[in-house]
Amino acid sequence: MLIHIPDVLSADQVAHARRLLDTADWVDGRVTAGPQSARVKDNAQLPEGHPAARELGDTIVSALQRHPLFISAALPLHVFPPLFNRYAGGQSFGHHIDNAIRQMPGMPHRIRTDLSCTLFLSGRDEYDGGELMVEDTYGLHSVKLPAGHLVLYPATSLHHVRPVTRGVRVCSFFWLQSMVRSDADRTLLFDLDAAIRHLHGVEAAEAPAVQLTGVYHNLLRRWAEV
Ligand code: NI
Repeated sequence: MLIHIPDVLSADQVAHARRLLDTADWVDGRVTAGPQSARVKDNAQLPEGHPAARELGDTIVSALQRHPLFISAALPLHVFPPLFNRYAGGQSFGHHIDNAIRQMPGMPHRIRTDLSCTLFLSGRDEYDGGELMVEDTYGLHSVKLPAGHLVLYPATSLHHVRPVTRGVRVCSFFWLQSMVRSDADRTLLFDLDAAIRHLHGVEAAEAPAVQLTGVYHNLLRRWAEV
């Protein structure tokens, strides 16, 4: 399931992020790539633990924790501290699948990457190309969202970023471990949650809404790891 999460950051938050990022010192993006994806990765990245990455990462994670659509779709357990990348002058990232396991920086534990997130920090008119292309069982999806919007997709997906032929594409990217490991199970819960929300305020549907909410929580109890 590929989900567009709108308005994660406000226009002011995006502008602040860009002021910090546009003056930061970027390094070669291959620092976090495995040996195979390093061969196809051509971009710049903010070093992990860079003060700007920490500040903006905290802003992004706290915004997501307040975003009902994100919570419903991701059911997050652990969120990796957001990273930042930059593509310009024809840079791209060829076909790859993200690493399954990530060491949490500065912490003793690792996370399993169930979902990948890309948060766009450049407006769509600021650059040409740079689409995130995600392959799933329903085909190839092209993703290029307004600044401040995020796409959430299964980390099991083969994906690539098309060359940026004009302007600069700045994004934040990160992974999360979900309480519900299976994308199919998580999708059922997401659809059920959406249906229950539609029933809110419908007087005649009050009893079935309570029953369906019970079903939601009992499925979550069955499938969740916390
Ligand atoms: Ni990737």
